[in-house]
Amino acid sequence: DKISLIGVPMDLGQSRRGVDMGPSALRYAGAIERLQNLNFDIHDLGDIPINRPGVIEDTDSKLKNLEQVIEANEILAKMVDEEIKKDRFPLILGGDHSIAIGSLAGISKHYENLGVIWYDAHGDLNTSDTSPSGNIHGMPLAASLGLGHERLTNLYNYAPKIKPENIVIIGARSLDPGEKDLIKELGIKVYTMHEIDRLGMSKVLEETINYFKEHTDGVHLSLDLDGLDPTEAPGVGTPVLGGMTYRESHLAMEMLAESNMITSLEVVEVNPILDEKNKTATLAVGLMGSLFGEKLK
Ligand code: ARG
Ligand code: MN
Ligand code: MN
Ligand code: MN
Repeated sequence: DKISLIGVPMDLGQSRRGVDMGPSALRYAGAIERLQNLNFDIHDLGDIPINRPGVIEDTDSKLKNLEQVIEANEILAKMVDEEIKKDRFPLILGGDHSIAIGSLAGISKHYENLGVIWYDAHGDLNTSDTSPSGNIHGMPLAASLGLGHERLTNLYNYAPKIKPENIVIIGARSLDPGEKDLIKELGIKVYTMHEIDRLGMSKVLEETINYFKEHTDGVHLSLDLDGLDPTEAPGVGTPVLGGMTYRESHLAMEMLAESNMITSLEVVEVNPILDEKNKTATLAVGLMGSLFGEKLK
């Protein structure tokens, strides 16, 4: 199998510097070697250039660093699109979660019904109107649904990228009021920590996989490391207590590997500055190993 790896050293979608070093941290933790060991043909396309302003102004803007975020996402969308055309699996290493806008823009045009698994403490369903922070990393799922600022929703010149019925959010435990309203209004499937506690991760993944089997022709996994508990993944900018464990997360990845349904992956929000000796990137690379079938080989 063929994988193309794209690094996106983007930290302008949120307020804590350092997540721009995510791609390096993941590479140092052995991302490429891990997959090579599984006999993947992996092309490292390097990191895309980020236009970084000398001074990052902490404005009250409703969309912080909008231009830079758009610019990076346009480049990413095009690269991802090209790699899928070459029949290669896009593996995107962030960077903050705002890069999902570009990933999904490049991916979704290749599918009628792209499924999206949003593995995250957050819903990332804010718009410029509902966002409490103005941080675009809290908006990519809404933007991909066609909700929010036109420059974000129409990135790569089409909208929407995904349909509400093709989304499953796993691990949510910090949802803003506007996000909760949207989830209800659109009927988005969410397994909060409450459901994960009650059902168990095995059941959650079984339901998710069965649902996607019937409804989708490809599934993108958007893996935000803050989905895991901060004791296990401390290197993230917006940690939330009570998250998914190491084993729950590996189980989820292993079940997805068995299902053979994942067609693209992004790993986001790894911030080595806030981390403990690259623990979070190392964890992320382990999860990539499980997702790409370590247990099956
Ligand atoms: N809901 C908060 C906001 O909109 C936090 C979003 C965190 N998102 C993330 N990808 N870590 O600002
Ligand atoms: Mn090759
Ligand atoms: Mn997120
Ligand atoms: Mn998050």
